[in-house]
Formats: sequence, C-alpha cells, structure tokens
Amino acid sequence: MQHDAIAVIDFGGQYAHLIATKVRRHGVLAEIRQPEDPLEAFAPYKGIIISGSPALASHGEDSEYNKGIYDLDLPILGFCFGHQEIAQHYGGKVVHGGRQWGKTDLHLTGDHPLFAGLDPVQPVWMSHYDSVAEIGPEFTELGWSATTADGPGHRYAAIGSDTLRRYGLQFHPEVDDTVHGDEMIANFVLGICGCEPSWTIEAFMAEEMGIIQDQVGERSVFLLASGGVDSTVAATLLTRALGPDRVDLLHVDNGLMRKDESANVLEFFAGLGLGSHVHFADASDRFLKALEGLIDPEEKRRAIGNAFIDVFRDEASRLGIEGHLLGQGTIYPDTIETGGTQRADTIKTHHNRVPIIEEMIEQGGVIEPLKELYKVEVRELGEKLGIPHDLVWRHPFPGPGLGVRCLCGDGEGDRTGFDAIEPAVEEIGRAFGLEALPLPIRSVGVKADLRAYEHPVLVSGSTAWDRLIEAASLLTADVPGINRCIWNLDSDSPTTARPLAATMTRDRLDLLREADHLVMEGLRAHGLYDEIWQCPTVLIPLDLEGDGGELVVIRPVHSKRAMTAAPVELPTALLDELREGILGLDGVSGLALDITSKPPGTIEWE
Ligand code: XMP
Repeated sequence: MQHDAIAVIDFGGQYAHLIATKVRRHGVLAEIRQPEDPLEAFAPYKGIIISGSPALASHGEDSEYNKGIYDLDLPILGFCFGHQEIAQHYGGKVVHGGRQWGKTDLHLTGDHPLFAGLDPVQPVWMSHYDSVAEIGPEFTELGWSATTADGPGHRYAAIGSDTLRRYGLQFHPEVDDTVHGDEMIANFVLGICGCEPSWTIEAFMAEEMGIIQDQVGERSVFLLASGGVDSTVAATLLTRALGPDRVDLLHVDNGLMRKDESANVLEFFAGLGLGSHVHFADASDRFLKALEGLIDPEEKRRAIGNAFIDVFRDEASRLGIEGHLLGQGTIYPDTIETGGTQRADTIKTHHNRVPIIEEMIEQGGVIEPLKELYKVEVRELGEKLGIPHDLVWRHPFPGPGLGVRCLCGDGEGDRTGFDAIEPAVEEIGRAFGLEALPLPIRSVGVKADLRAYEHPVLVSGSTAWDRLIEAASLLTADVPGINRCIWNLDSDSPTTARPLAATMTRDRLDLLREADHLVMEGLRAHGLYDEIWQCPTVLIPLDLEGDGGELVVIRPVHSKRAMTAAPVELPTALLDELREGILGLDGVSGLALDITSKPPGTIEWE
C-alpha cells in the first residue's frame, strides 16, 4: 500500500463513512472494514477506529464481531458504540440509559495526547441511548459530559488506556457539531498512530483514473447524467480517463426536474465540451405512469429508480450500445442511506441503489468512480478537473428530483398516535407562546441512526429564531412520533389541517416547479444561494385554510456533508416576497418554513 492508512470498522452507524472522510482530510487514507473481517485484513493499517451503531452494546447486540482485533498491536479508538464496546471488553460496564442527543460540553480531566492543543471544555455532539457506567482497571477517565436542557450529563464520556493504546469517545468527533473533532481525529491518526499524511484529492484522481482504466478495459461507459454536480464530475473524470469516444452520456427528463432544467443541462454539457456524446430522452410520461397512484416514499423511490434503468436500457438498445458499462455519479451518502453498508439501517433507497442496480453491480456491469467520496471531495475534484465554479457549487439535487418533494396522499391522512401527540405538542407550544398543530401526514427522518417515518408539527406565532429552533428540538425529542417541525409563514393560525387526496400529476409538479423557481430566484436575488447548502421546496397535500389549496414548505439548510444539517433563518424581506409569490400561486393556500435540524429530520421529506 502506497499510503499510511486507518481501518474504520463499520458497525452501520450513519457516521462510519464520515469518519473515513474526516481521516482522509488529514491526508491519511481511511478504508472501511467489516466487523467480521479476518485479522489479516487489518495488517496494512496503522490504527483502527470503531464506528457508532444502531445496535445496543448494553444488550449485547451485534457483539459477535471479530474480537481478535483487541489482540492486535495497533492503537484503537472507538466512537459511541465503539467506545462502549472497548469499555466493556476491558472490564467496564455499559448500561441502557443516560441517553443524550445533540450538543453538550465535554470536560477534560487533564492533558492527554488525544486532546493535544485543545481547551479543557469542548463542545461535542452526542446521539446515544446506552452509556458507560464503569471502566476497567487499566483505563482512566479522560473526560465527562455536562448536563444540558436535553438530558443529564454523565461520566466516562472519554476514556483511555495508554499502555493498551485503546481509547473511547462517547460523542461523535466526526460530526461538524463537535467543534474540534477534526483536531481529535488528527491527534489520534497523526499523533498516536503516527501516520504520514500523503493521501490527497490529486492522489485520488491519479489512482482512480488507473482504477477506471483497469475496470473498463476495452469496453466503454454509458453514464446517466442529470446535470448535477456528482454526475458531471463523474462524466468529466471518466472522459479524462478513457477519452471522449468511450463515454456516452444520457440525460433523461424524468418530468421531476426543476423549471427549464433539461434545456440548461444540455447547454452546459455543450459548454464543457461533452456535447458530442450527449443523448437526451424525454421520458416524463413514462416516469409519471410508473408513479401513478403511489403514496409510500420508498415505493415512489423504487419506481423512479426502476424507470431510470428501463429508460437507460431502451436508449442503449436504440443507440446500439448495450454492451457498455452503466456509469453513475453515486457518492458515499447514497450508499450509506440505502443501507449499502452491511449494517446501516435503510433511511432512504437512493435512485441509484434500487435492487436491479445492485444486481448489475454484482455482475460487474456498473462503474461508479465517486462512490468513495463525499460531496465536498467531489467538488474539490471537480475544481481540479477544471469544471466551472458555478457548476461545481450548484446545490445538490436528488436523483428522484421533485418526486421526493411532491408528497402524495389518499385524502384520509394518518393520525396514528394523535391522542397522545396532540396534548403533548400543544403543551410544548404553549410554553413557547406558539400554537402547535400536529399534521396528519408523515415524512422521513432519522433518529439514533434509525429511519423514522413520523409526523411533522406546524407551529404558528412569532418569537425569536433561537426560541423557534429550541421549540422544534423539544417537540422532536420529547414527543414520540414527531420528527419534524415547520413554522407557519402565513398570518393565520390554522386549527385543523385537512388531508387532500393527491397523486403525482404533471399539474402538481408544475405547481411545485413554480414555487421552487420563486425560492431559487429569491435566494439568488438576496445573495444567499452560495451561503446555503441546499433548499428543497416541498408540496404537501394538506389544506390549512379550508379552500382546497395545498401547503408549500421551504427547507433551507446549512450543511457540509449532508449527514447533518441545520435550518437557516431567512431575512424578513425575502420571506415577505416568498409569501406574496407562493401564496399567490393557484392551488397553494399555506406556506411554512422547515425549522428541523438533521437528525431528526432529513434534508428531503421522503
Ligand atoms: P437526506 O434527505 O437523506 O439527504 O438528508 C441527504 C442528501 O442526499 C440527497 N438525496 C439524494 N441524492 N439520490 C441522490 O442523488 C437520492 O435518491 C437522494 N435522496 C436524497 C439530498 O438532496 C441531500 O443532499
């Protein structure tokens, strides 16, 4: 192996791959390993990090992994579940309790190389049900956590044994909310493990070109190119590695694109010099047919993913290029959130990870040169490849497009658990001087690494932004069955929300396209487009006014890697413009701003 490397053992936490990327940011290659891997698999590494997991260490869940790693003469660091496993293995005790969620302070007990250069109080990010109650004789407590409004603090938030070279952190240093998590990771990787930093995006590019050439051999590639950042960078990298004559691009208008998107995409492919091998298919009727009558988010996602493959195959046969490999701009989060690693809970099936594609991958028919990279790395690579800044920094747009932003319903709604939810929600609302109304629909979210398909709450009234965010986090943390909170931008406080029967129709998608266009134009006009990570606009079949109009929700978020996200406050002038523009659209009668962080809400609603 050319580079010093770290093995990240993936117990299926949403964060395992994020750990690997964070290690790589320090110029050290990190690779994902499975808990059952034989000990020989760990021979090339200079250290091991054990990830978090949805499993409970206290109940012995997922405890059948290869414990031989603890006999290796390598430093090992565990996060969350990994921390608890290390504590338990060396004679400590893990209990089911002491749950913490969100930010808290870590108080260091003294100087330690793992925290070199850091102040004695560190803001860290927690997400756990179990906790370490006792440590083994060779371990010392390196830090404890403070009590917050969200829960009591506890001891052993950081532990270590310098003789064994084993360390554990209850929090997640890989998440951006652990403000100095990067330094802690660097202290472990560069300091304790002694790795030489040599892995860079230039190194990745050079090595990946070789891998592409080996995998493709004498064949060619046919790439689904949405015009988004990922597929554009993949197309450019493949073209660089194989030459333009061996890369054909297919842009599909699936009817779920933004306003004027396909025309713009074809134009900028031409500008990138990729134009001569770009094919275009207007398959909007076909996608709408595939989505007819579907309501369940996973069914919708599968229908979209399958329709992509049908169109791809038909186009390949029409063009006489069936033998080509299928190219995709898949990146890390796509595979994790679909449960692409052995243990991750399926939060959402990404369009490029439906079963038919999984089969093609197994048969060696798919090439995905970016599947190891996070968005930020893809963008860095895009810049290295000379793709224009505006394109590289476009907001991410999901493969299933407006399909996951246009919610459908049978008109009955879903009030499961409302007997308990309603009073609990109203009480929290009152404490903040807000009216709070649970909504009889559901959206996808993620809680403690598990998929949560739960209800949103609409809060109405005016209060400071920080108080709104506080109310949102209490509502989602304290009320079982609630994973999202939206703030009413209309002046009225609705007392009921009537579910509407609505399927995926061209008319509804056109309406959503107009609303989305107003939001995008508004963000650009106010100079906010580049500042925020992404801003989905969502159409929801709920009538708050009694006039048959639907609800539109705007979801601006700050994020770095889409694994976590924070809601963004928009300026009053922009909110006024959006209120006027969107509520003026025929068919819309409600407007709200999503004020949920991720977790527990995901960026997209489905
Ligand atoms: P969530 O909603 O899970 O989204 O917080 C994380 C990021 O992934 C994008 N996303 C997708 N991208 N295919 C994609 O290419 C998909 O099926 C898909 N679903 C979500 C989402 O827009 C966000 O940037």
